[in-house]
Amino acid sequence: MARDILVTSALPYANGSIHLGHLVEYIQTDVWVRFQKLRGHNCVYVCADDAHGTPIMLKARDMGIEPEQLIADVGAEHKQDFDDFLIGFDNYHSTHSDENRELAAEIYTRLEKAGHIARRTISQAYDEEKQMFLPDRFIRGECPKCGTAEQYGDACEVCGATYQPTELINPVSVLSGATPVERDSEHYFFQLADFEAFLHDWTRSDHLQEAVTRKLDEWFEAGLKDWDISRDAPYFGFKIPGTEDKYFYVWLDAPIGYMASFANLCKRRQAEGKALDFDHFWKADSDAELYHFIGKDIVYFHALFWPAMLEGAGYRTPTAIHAHGFLTVNGEKMSKSRGTFIKARTWLKHLPAEFLRYYFTAKLSGKVEDLDLNLDDFMARINSDLVGKYVNIASRCANFITKRFDGQLADTLDKPELFERFAAAADEIAEHYEQRRFAQAVRQIMALADEANAYVAERAPWQLAKEEGREDELQQICTTALNLFAQLTIYLKPVLPETAERAEAFLQVGDLTWADLATPLTGHEIAKFKPLLRRVEQPAIDKMIEASQEDLAAKAAPQAEAEAPKKAATKPADKKPDTADGDDKIEIGDFAKVDLRVARIAAAEHVEGADKLLKLTLDVGALGTKQVFAGIKSAYAPETLEGRLTVMVANLAPRKMRFGLSEGMVLAAGDSPHILSPDDGAQPGDKIK
Ligand code: MSP
Ligand code: ZN
Repeated sequence: MARDILVTSALPYANGSIHLGHLVEYIQTDVWVRFQKLRGHNCVYVCADDAHGTPIMLKARDMGIEPEQLIADVGAEHKQDFDDFLIGFDNYHSTHSDENRELAAEIYTRLEKAGHIARRTISQAYDEEKQMFLPDRFIRGECPKCGTAEQYGDACEVCGATYQPTELINPVSVLSGATPVERDSEHYFFQLADFEAFLHDWTRSDHLQEAVTRKLDEWFEAGLKDWDISRDAPYFGFKIPGTEDKYFYVWLDAPIGYMASFANLCKRRQAEGKALDFDHFWKADSDAELYHFIGKDIVYFHALFWPAMLEGAGYRTPTAIHAHGFLTVNGEKMSKSRGTFIKARTWLKHLPAEFLRYYFTAKLSGKVEDLDLNLDDFMARINSDLVGKYVNIASRCANFITKRFDGQLADTLDKPELFERFAAAADEIAEHYEQRRFAQAVRQIMALADEANAYVAERAPWQLAKEEGREDELQQICTTALNLFAQLTIYLKPVLPETAERAEAFLQVGDLTWADLATPLTGHEIAKFKPLLRRVEQPAIDKMIEASQEDLAAKAAPQAEAEAPKKAATKPADKKPDTADGDDKIEIGDFAKVDLRVARIAAAEHVEGADKLLKLTLDVGALGTKQVFAGIKSAYAPETLEGRLTVMVANLAPRKMRFGLSEGMVLAAGDSPHILSPDDGAQPGDKIK
């Protein structure tokens, strides 16, 4: 029976380019959607640009354009990138749209009427120069816990502490450098705790992966807090109904953007005379299915706020949330300086979209695990699986059919049981796809490809072709092999839609579907074979890496991409690699400004009230003694340090910390961390060059 299925991917922010990390999500969603469609289900896939919020407003301001202009430009770029990666959205919309404005107002109003919205005056950091309240990410200062400088207003990247921006020591506004002041303002809150019982139940009823439910348990234990859903002007977003200068926080209207994009599609379909009913998919007791694919960093919004909002406003809740991990490249966080922060467009200039689709698919487990793109493995895998196994079957047999039999396939198969076995794998492979165990689906498909190749090798049509009177056999063997190839094409079609299309043209069949797995192609004319895929060569990869490094040189480091997700969602382990990259290149001249010196640790002591810090007294030869607070308590007992030589930054401006003045910084490596030592012979005060 055909199912009605609505699927979404998270809405990318409209202030940056799509990169390979994003594509982990869009590719896996698209593969799943194409699979559902191939099986004959009524599956609809919608998405949109997430167009609101402070970063977008400020970026437009920086560029001297209106935010509307920025989001239109970025929206067009995103669409093109997605098209070229064969992401088959049924609709791609924007959260800055009429549909979204109406739905956001409606949902808010319903929540308000039902008593789920509270108002309270809160005090927040305000930049008097820029005349605006500062989101947490736009304030930096010293961590109140460990004293590390240059930390964001919500969490410390060094010690992992979370805190209020008002707790930062020596805070500055990232926008103006001014010291923020505190200012009162009335805010609107969604009372998440009203939904505690509902959520407790909902998060344990098969809507979430197990790892996600476990994560949520931590949040339940911490208690569900009111969610601040308003922002003061100036803000790029929708005004809250009934207010003059309050706007919906971007994350309030972002998920509603899923509904808005769907509503927009309903309108478009109606104009084409094809009915698609909004209520059928969204009404409270809908029997249609609804799935959201998201990254692990935004689970909090999708597994708590969003179901609660829907429930509170009288809509259906999601059937399931499908969360995935983050992308690493060659085993490390994507990095601009290593050239592994690769944009969608850069990839496309050097390599086919389908190769990335295949590689990601081959590695996705359906779990919330991170996924590594290892470029050597990538090349080996594509060349071996796709070129060496899959396409090879057709390329070894097609020409005999064309040259010896006028393109005509035999009326019977040489080995029908092999075809039957390939067909019989359908249910198991389908179940892997359905459960998003893509890696297992691919493994099974490639095992079949191995069998097909073994069959061809054993029958060696190229031998038979030389012998007389064995025409029928030759034709039937090649027909069998090409039928196996056709079955593999169907299995891979969700992943390789373009190659499948070329294969369909070669086989002269229409749009292959899952049902065609069971029907052999016999007595049928096929077209001349043309190579379907090219091998990956190392230079293409090298050039792509080089180009990614150039991208960086061409332009300064981008702004933090997103307004900070809520604290609970930004435990350090969940930090987005792309926003926390921080390894942008500097000029040699900048480096020369750093005065590195050999220092002897004259004294090391515990610091009362500090979890991570030791207080070091350093003897820096001619520069005298300096006091430094270093976050190395976890790795060293103070007494083991005394007398040791190490390396310090001697010309850091002194910083006042809660525990006293810090007059420099000791260099240490790794998480443990290990402090650096000069070789024998170095003297306190020696300059490091
Ligand atoms: N705008 C929000 C989502 C709103 S949904 C109502 C957002 N945008 S994003 O552009 O930062 O991310 C879009 C999606 O891409 C998210 O699901 C995010 O987890 C995913 N990814 C972004 N970078 C990623 C990696 N490096 N690796 C894997 N997925 C990543 O969040
Ligand atoms: Zn800290």
